[in-house]
Amino acid sequence: MNRIYLNDAWAFSPSFKDEYINTAIGACAESVRLPHTCKEVPYNHFSECEYQMVSAYQRVIFAESKWQENHVLLTFEGVGHYAEVFLNGERIGEHYSGYTAFTLDISEHLDYGRDNLLCVKVDSRESLNIPPFGYVVDYMTFGGIYRDVYLEIKSSTYISDVFVKPDATGKIESDIEISGEIGKGFEIRQSASLGCESFKIADTKISSPALTLSGKIEGVKLWSCDTPTLYTVKTELLQDGEVVDVHTVKAGFRSVEFKADGFYLNGEKFKFRGLNRHQSYPYVGYAMPKSMQQMDADVMKRELGLNAVRTSHYPQSQYFIDRCDEIGLLVFTEIPGWQHIGDEKWQDQALKNVEEMILQYRNHPSIILWGVRINESVDCEALYTRTNALAHKLDPTRMTGGVRCIRKSQLLEDVYTYNDFFHDGERIGCEPKENITPDMSKPYFVTEYGGHMYPTKAYDDESHRLNHALRHATVLDAIESHPDICGSFGWCLFDYNTHKDFGSGDRICYHGVTDMFRNHKLAAAVYSSYQNDIPVLEISASVDGGEYPASRKGEVWMFTNADSVKMYRSGVLLKEYEIKSERFPSIRVSPVLIDDYVGSLIETDEGFDSETAKYLSFVVNKMALCASCTYPSDIDELISIAQSVYGVSRDRIEGLYGKYIGNWGGSAVDYTFEAIKDGKVVKTVKKAAANQILLEYTCSHTNLCEESSYDVACVRLRAVDENGNLCPYFAEPIKVICDGEIGIIGPDVISLRGGLGGVYVKSLGMSGKGTLTLSNYQLGDTKIEFEIKV
Ligand code: GAL
Repeated sequence: MNRIYLNDAWAFSPSFKDEYINTAIGACAESVRLPHTCKEVPYNHFSECEYQMVSAYQRVIFAESKWQENHVLLTFEGVGHYAEVFLNGERIGEHYSGYTAFTLDISEHLDYGRDNLLCVKVDSRESLNIPPFGYVVDYMTFGGIYRDVYLEIKSSTYISDVFVKPDATGKIESDIEISGEIGKGFEIRQSASLGCESFKIADTKISSPALTLSGKIEGVKLWSCDTPTLYTVKTELLQDGEVVDVHTVKAGFRSVEFKADGFYLNGEKFKFRGLNRHQSYPYVGYAMPKSMQQMDADVMKRELGLNAVRTSHYPQSQYFIDRCDEIGLLVFTEIPGWQHIGDEKWQDQALKNVEEMILQYRNHPSIILWGVRINESVDCEALYTRTNALAHKLDPTRMTGGVRCIRKSQLLEDVYTYNDFFHDGERIGCEPKENITPDMSKPYFVTEYGGHMYPTKAYDDESHRLNHALRHATVLDAIESHPDICGSFGWCLFDYNTHKDFGSGDRICYHGVTDMFRNHKLAAAVYSSYQNDIPVLEISASVDGGEYPASRKGEVWMFTNADSVKMYRSGVLLKEYEIKSERFPSIRVSPVLIDDYVGSLIETDEGFDSETAKYLSFVVNKMALCASCTYPSDIDELISIAQSVYGVSRDRIEGLYGKYIGNWGGSAVDYTFEAIKDGKVVKTVKKAAANQILLEYTCSHTNLCEESSYDVACVRLRAVDENGNLCPYFAEPIKVICDGEIGIIGPDVISLRGGLGGVYVKSLGMSGKGTLTLSNYQLGDTKIEFEIKV
């Protein structure tokens, strides 16, 4: 399946004129490369009207004479949201829905041996009568030809589809479709390979355009989240012994079962833990190439330790799902839509979306369930009877789900999938299955939690950021404690641009555990503590009391994937913490409350007898956990006992609190935390007064490589102190300067938000070198070198 990518050399006009279908747009066109957004936007504070337009894209295709005997297929992977396609002035097709691909056979319309003018009218208005439009939706829908476009040159008879159905016993069945005339002498041959091993699957003569092959690989290596083994299945079409077409697909052998008591992967109970992902980025909306799609999957699996993702609320880039296949991230994908159900025409399009989603994505082993209901819509028996029937017909190997926010709603799907926003900081983490599903014999899982219940900006104050993290931990803990909840998807991976009705007035929903550049907020540590490859140790507070009312921090929590954490006060060991907690009994890597700020210091340094010192330490530690300066009655009582039983006055106790915990006006105290794993210190965090500010960066990759299109690297930025602690209130501008063969996406002066920021660096179509300079009067200059290969 050799593709000829048509991602370069497009002419773009933000307005469409009829004459463009057969005349070059000319001088007023902008020359663009795909993926392309019809409108670059600021980071925030812009309107959803900006990207809504009818625009024109034009490109010349030179049709080689030798293609004349072939089928020439033109595929658009994603055009937001309606496309009308013209070739040499002739209308050759149209497509509704910005979230699925479409292919046109253009063989009959090409002039061979010469240039052909391709023109695409792209309608990105939200007034289109298709899902998700019709009412307001909580995400911006952006526009443009924002995924790849390519040609495939096929023989006159060719393989038009292969649907592989591998299972966990090594059996593989494939439904194959052939297009074109099938005369005598046609054969199909199928084999699979893994590294240098290859396995014959089947070999058969064919006489009809649809057939099913089956075979078995003995000793097959299973696909799982830990070992995402992918076989390459090659299907060849032969005519009189000559190979005339080859179709390859990556296949994973695995079994997936949703049952009343939970989810099973390869026969073993497996609780999935995921987040919802939108597909948007700052400035360019949906238009990001392969490496940025892959990065999101990597962030989820490798940084956040997730094993699943929900592609809310539409099918997403094949590059993203391919990466999920490669790294072992389970996917729940669903049709476009958000709460609203439209008229008959709209509903027919929803059906079309089911069909396109399943036909285009059903070979991915990572996909475990089809979402065939409009997210959070009301019951609609007629529509959902049809979507379910169609899904089962097109893919008998997978079950269906459909995300709702109503309890006990009509269950036409196989799995009840529900957005559980019950936890509000006070209430239990999630509702039990019996409160939600109408039928306990059906499987159940949670598709959203968190989100709008507690929007959190990276620059919110420390206690807000901590509460955000604790809420995520509370829900995860509750879900862990219910064996009959298959798993969960939190809302959501990153902050996203949204419509005026949602968000914080600046067109951003601050619901992410990361910001828009995928920089971690504290809540990310709840998830990243699950992964074992990178040591995690986050402490929820700085040493700075001034961040809190009356300088009282209250609870401070540690988030870690270590076995234990040692805490030191100015070099003196206070306590070694085990990683478990009463508040989060079920979560495997529970956040731990810091409950000892004095260790044995009162005993060694204050001249009290051991028993009195122990009691006083206990009391001041209790005082430390209290966020207000008027103590609740239980602490008041502890203070009174100190007086009556141990003869230590309230003033003396306040003095001890001030000296060891409040630390106001005292000599500078620092706290050091050592994360210990397998007996070794794997990460150290030192919290001390910040005296210096530095710019720290993580670059996704510095070798930009143009394959199907331009490449983009993401440079994530953090302002940190000399101990590497985030400085969340550093918001000074940074100048972004490019030299050499690189460019940037977005403005050339940026501000950090919450001490965090990002820059997207892109290749410009030329091999060579490039330097990115980030310049700020306090931080100085940071230079990052790139190599570009075209
Ligand atoms: C849900 C919805 C999501 C998002 C979320 C915010 O109701 O499905 O798209 O808006 O709320 O918490």
